[in-house]
Amino acid sequence: MADWSDVGEAYAASFAALCAGAVGAVLDEAAARTEGRVLLDVGTGPGTVAAAAMARGWNAAGVDAEESMLATARRLHPGVPFGRGTLPQLGIEDDTADAVTANFVLNHVPDARVSAGELARVAKPDGVVVATIWHGVTSPLRPMWDAMLDAVGLDRPADKTLPAEKDFGRDADGVAEMFRDGGLVDVRARIVAWDYAFDPQELWNGVEGGVATVGGIYRAQDAAMRARMTDAYDRITRAQAGVDGRVTVPHRAVLVSGRPA
Ligand SMILES: C[S@@+](CC[C@H](N)C(=O)[O-])C[C@H]1O[C@@H](n2cnc3c(N)ncnc32)[C@H](O)[C@@H]1O
Repeated sequence: MADWSDVGEAYAASFAALCAGAVGAVLDEAAARTEGRVLLDVGTGPGTVAAAAMARGWNAAGVDAEESMLATARRLHPGVPFGRGTLPQLGIEDDTADAVTANFVLNHVPDARVSAGELARVAKPDGVVVATIWHGVTSPLRPMWDAMLDAVGLDRPADKTLPAEKDFGRDADGVAEMFRDGGLVDVRARIVAWDYAFDPQELWNGVEGGVATVGGIYRAQDAAMRARMTDAYDRITRAQAGVDGRVTVPHRAVLVSGRPA
């Protein structure tokens, strides 16, 4: 699991744009499954979902486990309330929101089933929980990061995996089953797909800021190795970039929704 401490600004300026690809689908699903308009975004990071919800007319708020994410969310979206909330115990009353969202959060908690149950607990009885999780076990950006690590002769640390009894399939069926195991009912899961087109320097700023596994690897190196990693990344992304200088990588996520029992 990634370490999110103190990466709020770096995440907001880089990887947040990657996760933003699913926000429209998350809010469409929420609107399709509840009449109410109170939305709580859990694991809100820099507040992308909560702010987009507010712009669509929801009465939205966000919570996150990490203070630097909350500071960034408040700076970027001063009109949206943000507070501390950590899965699997949010410390929020039962039946609080019509829609409870978690965009790429349940893949970062030690027990997704228990956390999904906690999302359902804070949803109103006729409300909905909507979550996204990356489709597949490895990120579509992984080949690019691996090529960069290979180029500088660094071994990638072993992937941090969940114990078998806490793990779940990273496809629509597996994620739906995880939601049902967490106690949700009327569960629906489907794939959403989009092209993530990024400015290589913008994404690298996130790596330098320590975001994601690759950011953790970068941060653990001395200055000479960091410079070699930067050069290798520049070479690799230059070769992949289009005429506008951006690199496009298709992404797929499982979008799952369900109701409290
Ligand atoms: C990949 S980011 C997604 C952020 C945001 N939802 C978005 O769409 O950009 C994962 C977020 O989950 C938060 N997070 C990780 N573990 C958490 C937990 N146990 N409870 C609440 N938030 C958590 C992190 O601090 C981070 O903001």
